[in-house]
Amino acid sequence: MKNGVSILGIFVADTAYLAARMPVVGETIRGSGFAVGPGGKGSNQAVAAARAGATVSFISKIGRDTFGDLAQKTYADAGVTPVLTVMDTEPTGAAFIYVNENNGDNAIIVYPGAAGTIGVEDVEAARVTIEQSAIFVTQLEQPVAAAQRALEIARNAGVVTVFNPAPAEIFPDVLYGLSDYIIPNETEAAALVGFGIETLDDARRAGDALLKRGAGAAVITLGGRGVLLHTSGQSDHLPVFSVGPVIDTTGAGDAFVGGFSAALSAGRDPLEAVRFGCATAGISVTRRGTAPAMPSVAEIEAVLATTH
Ligand code: RIB
Ligand code: NA
Repeated sequence: MKNGVSILGIFVADTAYLAARMPVVGETIRGSGFAVGPGGKGSNQAVAAARAGATVSFISKIGRDTFGDLAQKTYADAGVTPVLTVMDTEPTGAAFIYVNENNGDNAIIVYPGAAGTIGVEDVEAARVTIEQSAIFVTQLEQPVAAAQRALEIARNAGVVTVFNPAPAEIFPDVLYGLSDYIIPNETEAAALVGFGIETLDDARRAGDALLKRGAGAAVITLGGRGVLLHTSGQSDHLPVFSVGPVIDTTGAGDAFVGGFSAALSAGRDPLEAVRFGCATAGISVTRRGTAPAMPSVAEIEAVLATTH
């Protein structure tokens, strides 16, 4: 019996600096805040899905170091089943995150470390975890060959596949056809289709292009403008949930993907799952950090109950 969500991706320690603006080259500026916490897109999605009520396994590689200990503690606290290789030869990755203290915007440099070495053999070693899940999720922070093999394993086993092509990287076209749901943000979608996403109509055209390349459905996240769920017969636009002041948008896309995947695994239909993901992301942007900002299922249900 298939059940729950399996996720392949990276864990890194997020080092987040709050400041009024980015420094320019050669300049030093004083920041107004700093925090270290668990991050990495796949790992954030795993924490989000688990907090949103799903049974979650997370497949990755970490180093034998302090940041690796933070990963293990994160999964123990969130109730995520870790399927981790601990390497002696590579460190756990880390990310530099600048957060604008005025509007919560962010800019990131991510170094995947041990997770940058995830290869097809590592994915093969986790085959059973993928095959036994109902939903499989991956992104592009680890090598693309690993993402591809994992999507192939999931597809061959009849597992529903969710592909978040983030960050924007080149990947083989075959990945579209392996994706039941492809979930880019507006920047990533623009990079994939080759035109800017300024309007909802642009997003629909981008959705058409992604379906033509073989994706089952395109879910394009549009930042403050909500989310477009685009399938061959239908296009639905859902606005964001404003649940409070936006203080940190880092990881909002991961909150969406985690919440969406958890909802699918609970048997919700795609449009309901998008709503659930929007609520998850809407709460996450009112809190600092990435994985630590992910809401519980009770918090998500409370937001959903207030809006119809
Ligand atoms: O999506 C946000 C994440 O991207 C951060 O946690 C950072 O680690 C980068 O990987
Ligand atoms: Na946040």
